[in-house]
Amino acid sequence: MSGFDPGRIRADFPILGEFIHGKPLIYLDNAASTQKPRAVIEATSRVYEHDYANVHRGVHTLSQRATDLFEGAREKVRAFINAGSDKEIVFVRGTTEAINLVAQSYGRANIGAGDEILITAMEHHSNIVPWQLLCQQTGAVLKVAPMNQAGELILDRFELSERTRLVSVAHMSNALGTLNPVKRIVELAHGRGVPVLLDGAQAVPHGAVDVQALDCDFYAFSGHKLYGPSGIGVLYGKAKLLDAMPPWQGGGDMIRMVTFERSEYNTLPYKFEAGTPDIAGAIALGAAIDYLQGIGMEAIAEYEQRLLHYATEKAKAIRGLKIIGEAAEKGAILSFTLEHVHPHDIGTLLDQLGIAVRAGHHCAMPVMDFYRVPATTRASFACYNTFEEVDALIEGVQQIIEVFG
Ligand code: ALA
Repeated sequence: MSGFDPGRIRADFPILGEFIHGKPLIYLDNAASTQKPRAVIEATSRVYEHDYANVHRGVHTLSQRATDLFEGAREKVRAFINAGSDKEIVFVRGTTEAINLVAQSYGRANIGAGDEILITAMEHHSNIVPWQLLCQQTGAVLKVAPMNQAGELILDRFELSERTRLVSVAHMSNALGTLNPVKRIVELAHGRGVPVLLDGAQAVPHGAVDVQALDCDFYAFSGHKLYGPSGIGVLYGKAKLLDAMPPWQGGGDMIRMVTFERSEYNTLPYKFEAGTPDIAGAIALGAAIDYLQGIGMEAIAEYEQRLLHYATEKAKAIRGLKIIGEAAEKGAILSFTLEHVHPHDIGTLLDQLGIAVRAGHHCAMPVMDFYRVPATTRASFACYNTFEEVDALIEGVQQIIEVFG
């Protein structure tokens, strides 16, 4: 822990100096999107001011410079998640697009009527709806592995059948914070020869991820939750699988040769990158990764665990507050409900105090149904949050309870 200095980190985030309703901003909506360090903001401006042109298309100097930066960002992503090759890093718009890509490409090629896709009871809509669409298109069946009241997967009931063709699981739940035993899940699935997609949108900002150690077949995440820009994300896929998959979207850059009769597709990863990508976004995502590696993902994970533990203990002491999601293994998310106060009112009143939290179903309506609540209030932490901010959140909640008496 020594050397980890949230004060210094905060100074890198200009937006944290904002005042909301006259109060210093306390930003606790990081699971929805994190704020951006100056390094990311400046990388974006630098591209547009000095290095911008379309990539992979020009012999002119600027296009080559932009291409080098863009491909350099791909290499940073590769190293960040320890993929074996740059070919396995596909730039997409975000986690949602990555999952849709796998559903529509891998899924339509390999999953047919009566086959099963296994997800869990704690998935985000982006890891439910793409599979429902695939099921409607193919006649496949969506199966859901159950969780317990703490919000943990019941591994004994994580059952693959003879017909399971793909497993798709959140590495970390956005609504509950649960960190799933994904290595074990991959082992279980591979024991039956079934590939696994991990939705890493929430996990990636909170700790080191090694896709080779996990041995997952696909890993999806978004730039904007990783202190990078919105509109850029990553699909990691094992080269063997990506190679065998048909393209998803057709267009420029994903082809090698086109006639009116037929087209030949480009090599990996370009086969899956039709059209002009988010060039500056990818480069700025690379800057976000550099920034995070400068701090250290282990140090971030350790600090956030301390914050979460502190917030959890304080929250537990509040009468009438119920924590939704009490898994033994959790990332830095505190979802809760208060007796007699709707989460939207909590969110609105906290905002008056300058505290940004998310109130709602968190794009995980089945999780809300499971707990029989319409919504929760969710405080989600990042490496720039402080213990004092947790205190302010807790005081804010206590004030709300007094008002609603
Ligand atoms: N998936 C994001 C969240 O959990 C938007 O808030």
